[in-house]
Amino acid sequence: MNVLIIGSGGREHAIATAVKKSAKADKIYCAPGNAGIAQIAECVPIGAMEFDKLVDFAKKNQIDFTIVGMDDPLVGGVVDEFEKAGLKVFGPRKNAAILEGSKAFSKDLMKKYDIPTAAYATFDRPEDALEYLKTAKIPIVLKADGLALGKGVLICETREEAFEGVRTLMEDKKFGDAGNTIVIEEFMTGREISVLSYTDGNTIQIMSSAMDHKRAKDGDQGLNTGGMGNISPAPFYTKEVDDFCQKNIYQKTVDAMKSEGRPFVGVIFFGLMLTPEGPKVLEYNARFGDPEAQVVLPRMKNDILDVMEHCVDGTLDQIKVEFEDNAAVCVVLASDGYPVAYDKGLVIDGLDDPRFDNEKFYCFHAGTKEENGKIVTNGGRVLGITAVAEDLKSARAKAYDATEWVSFANKYMRHDIGHMIDEV
Ligand code: AMP
Ligand code: GLY
Repeated sequence: MNVLIIGSGGREHAIATAVKKSAKADKIYCAPGNAGIAQIAECVPIGAMEFDKLVDFAKKNQIDFTIVGMDDPLVGGVVDEFEKAGLKVFGPRKNAAILEGSKAFSKDLMKKYDIPTAAYATFDRPEDALEYLKTAKIPIVLKADGLALGKGVLICETREEAFEGVRTLMEDKKFGDAGNTIVIEEFMTGREISVLSYTDGNTIQIMSSAMDHKRAKDGDQGLNTGGMGNISPAPFYTKEVDDFCQKNIYQKTVDAMKSEGRPFVGVIFFGLMLTPEGPKVLEYNARFGDPEAQVVLPRMKNDILDVMEHCVDGTLDQIKVEFEDNAAVCVVLASDGYPVAYDKGLVIDGLDDPRFDNEKFYCFHAGTKEENGKIVTNGGRVLGITAVAEDLKSARAKAYDATEWVSFANKYMRHDIGHMIDEV
């Protein structure tokens, strides 16, 4: 099969790496891709939101299967455009990607179908939100309804902060139209777990669990980011938690979407909080996590194209998605200053270290590009260094060893990825 992958981050590099291993893959393209993906696929300079050009490219280049990695094109309806053109594509249609695209939608869905989540209220008018906050329990969480690069969530420790948050989201429109509607939600405490799954709209099979590190600095301090590192499996994802989620969350979500006339085909990412009252859904995403994909996919036994085809064909019940009994840790190498302001265009050394890419060590590119024959930084998150080993502790030690093999001028990383491994 000729395969097209849409996206340009570490997640898409991990997907491309898995596709490359597939016995079914012939030519692999990525739009727009990055300098690392370019080593295993042909990158084409088409943006992820240029739907007409993507469809046109797929038709002209006999693409048999397209995989959408990113949330923006999914929420914007890229899958519908490919389907209209008779092209096979992996990912939810627009009417299902709303599961990630609108927090108000996902909260209402969970309420209607009795899926455990934090109590909430939705507001279209700032004055109503402010009125509600006068008596709400503090701390409290404000969320922009729409996509905001994972940054439209404000945890407010005081009532004044919450009032200010409403102004930021709804009046100053810090996240644009994403803040036209906001969700105000009860503050939850507990461990956060990421569970990715494949679904064909009827059947759901979860992948091995993972744990993100969202804050920029050690000790979970600093601003929220897209993710500074990840571990898989999550040590707190016990059999008991799994049983609860299988019964109360996963299949229920798939069935709810089907009942709403929005069958979900693709990857559902469950952001879970293990609260003292049991697991609750923090958020849904309609795609692989980044960097969750960089720790989960290297551990998957199945041929990724085979699994994805079964999803699109509605036959996921015919196979079993399986993972190695091992562990992976990914440490993100970022540009110092991320997620606020940082330099780009700095030369990266060590990328061709022969120790990478032997299925024990991976160097996934996130924000990189080629310039005058050299690979330079081109984003906040630059690389994801993943090590796979027999257990989490050795995967963590190896991942940190491998972070030393590459260098660039403003290289920044957290030094405590996987700190929870010692707390079990
Ligand atoms: P989200 O984009 O909804 O996952 O939110 C981003 C981050 O904010 C999550 O990973 C949590 O760390 C935090 N968060 C979101 N909602 C809540 C909540 N109701 N209670 C506590 N923390 C939350
Ligand atoms: N790492 C979290 C996300 O992809 O949303």
